[in-house]
Amino acid sequence: MTSGETEASKDGEFWLFGYGSLIWKPPPHFDRRIPGWVTGYVRRFWQASQDHRGTPTAPGRVVTLISEDYWSTLRDRDPHPSPPDNKVWGVAYRIIPSRVDEVKTYLDIREINGYTIHYTPFHPASELHRPDHPGEEEERGPIRALVYIGTPDNDQFVGPQDPQELAAHIYRSEGPSGLNRDYLWGLERSLEELCPESGDEHVRDLAERVRRIAAREEGGGVEERDVRREEHEGHHEFRRRESVDEVEETEKMGED
Ligand code: BEZ
Repeated sequence: MTSGETEASKDGEFWLFGYGSLIWKPPPHFDRRIPGWVTGYVRRFWQASQDHRGTPTAPGRVVTLISEDYWSTLRDRDPHPSPPDNKVWGVAYRIIPSRVDEVKTYLDIREINGYTIHYTPFHPASELHRPDHPGEEEERGPIRALVYIGTPDNDQFVGPQDPQELAAHIYRSEGPSGLNRDYLWGLERSLEELCPESGDEHVRDLAERVRRIAAREEGGGVEERDVRREEHEGHHEFRRRESVDEVEETEKMGED
């Protein structure tokens, strides 16, 4: 928890910002989901995952947010240095008021594989940016939202990596929640579905590198299989969680 803050609020509301798996795996008990962005950070696959997309002996790689101040001191080997307009796109969830205490207790006790709780202003996208949501009540101004960040001082923080080595690492990693590459491709697709400008070049570049590795390793079959999977799955449909218990038992909130 940063700055001794204990709650996220806008007029007493509680919002949670997701920039990783939360985009397509929502928390329990939300009544609104709004695409938008935060600033002051870059999203990077710089957090090791021992419990979901890797194992303790062979950790995978998942995203975290790096503060731009810290990031500017590093030699980032990524070919796409920062997001357009310095926006990190994701979604914010408003937790149903009567369930806030339950969800907060659940969130506050959880430290997920090195991630800690922080608060940041979230900027809802205007309708212009999300034509799929016409008529939805427009949010004004930034909303204070809780966000999970794996900061550079946590044990799972990896830091800058060569993009091709990182892609190869993601390609070969797997954990209890599935293949690391499915997390990467899921994130790429979820971001592109948010709005026309919400794609992230770091994510897109890595996803493309992993696709090329997969095509090389697995022959032509990979593309065909991906097309079939896309046809089967269609767009990401996020499944509403009915209780925090259900989430605990299955994937755990904020699994990656
Ligand atoms: C997310 O924003 O999706 C997320 C970030 C860190 C841990 C879990 C989820």
